[in-house]
Amino acid sequence: MKVTIDGQEIDVEPGTTILQAARMIGGESVPPAMCYYSKLKGSGGKCRCCLVEVTKGSEANPTPMPKLMASCVTGVMDGMEVKSITSERVVDARKSVTEFLLINHPLDCPVCDQAGECDLQNLSFKHGAAKTRFIEEKRTFEPENIGPNIQLHMNRCILCYRCVMVADQLTDSRVHGVVNRGDHSQISTCISKAVTNEFSGNMIDVCPVGALTDKTFRFKQRVWFNKPYNAHRDCDKCCGKTTLWMFGEEIQRVTARKDEYHEVEEFICNECRFEHKDPKDWVIEGPRKFEKDSVINANNYTRKIEPVVIETEKNILLGRDRDRKKISMPAIPLKPEEREVFKEGNV
Ligand code: SF4
Ligand code: FES
Repeated sequence: MKVTIDGQEIDVEPGTTILQAARMIGGESVPPAMCYYSKLKGSGGKCRCCLVEVTKGSEANPTPMPKLMASCVTGVMDGMEVKSITSERVVDARKSVTEFLLINHPLDCPVCDQAGECDLQNLSFKHGAAKTRFIEEKRTFEPENIGPNIQLHMNRCILCYRCVMVADQLTDSRVHGVVNRGDHSQISTCISKAVTNEFSGNMIDVCPVGALTDKTFRFKQRVWFNKPYNAHRDCDKCCGKTTLWMFGEEIQRVTARKDEYHEVEEFICNECRFEHKDPKDWVIEGPRKFEKDSVINANNYTRKIEPVVIETEKNILLGRDRDRKKISMPAIPLKPEEREVFKEGNV
């Protein structure tokens, strides 16, 4: 089947969704996705971030689709033409969805452990407005303890249902889910039972925002000050392949390895995630690579860096010191050619 997205044509298998086809093409045409997760069956169709414009339905029926379509749950048809980032309607819709998601989401990135790897932060950076039009009170919830390893911040939840699907599909007994309806919907353990299943920690990795975070990493570090390494260990419960988030010699956090769409490559068990914080427990493979524009790269060098000697530094600083004195001390007269630049009398 042929599908064209933003003028780029690709051949795909029947049953491929528009979002999957866009990911095969890659680049700016890939719609953002806050609820779809390729490793979780039935995910998607909730957040509407991934809307696209179908300008030609198919070769057999070229009628454009009147409404914007959620690309994560819309299958491609042969000859379909789609506009993603090239459509003004789509860009407008993404702005509106971002604004809608931020209605109740607190702007607490400075104290949120997810900052720096938050999909909503990235979405807001790209499609959000600088000002809010929402003056009403945000929806808030009482804090709830859902166990020793996972911190729930319900106020930050965007109800993407990914964590519920992890619990349904990866663990044998789901003890949490979405309770209540509409504006009152919330993730809860229903019977306030701890989420202790051996794979429950994966809910932290799939949560696109800071609603579910790692209690063992809480407030320890901003993620961009950590240095992430690929590492593995022999584990009889999971693949044992992880990313270690190091600060010096200390392992501060263990997560599954995530791809460019922030989806885990393979789910890991709670033992690997929470109980092995000694570097001796791991075979460290090397630094983990991230997208070029990720803030995590601020402290992540995947190449050996040679020290740089700046020979002129001393003279530059001396020069600046002299200029500073001239600007702030009128007693030191300026040279005639300097007068115009420094506008003597005004400084
Ligand atoms: S807690 Fe996170 S993963 Fe679960 S529904 Fe809310 S936003 Fe989604
Ligand atoms: S990613 Fe498609 S609706 Fe959420």
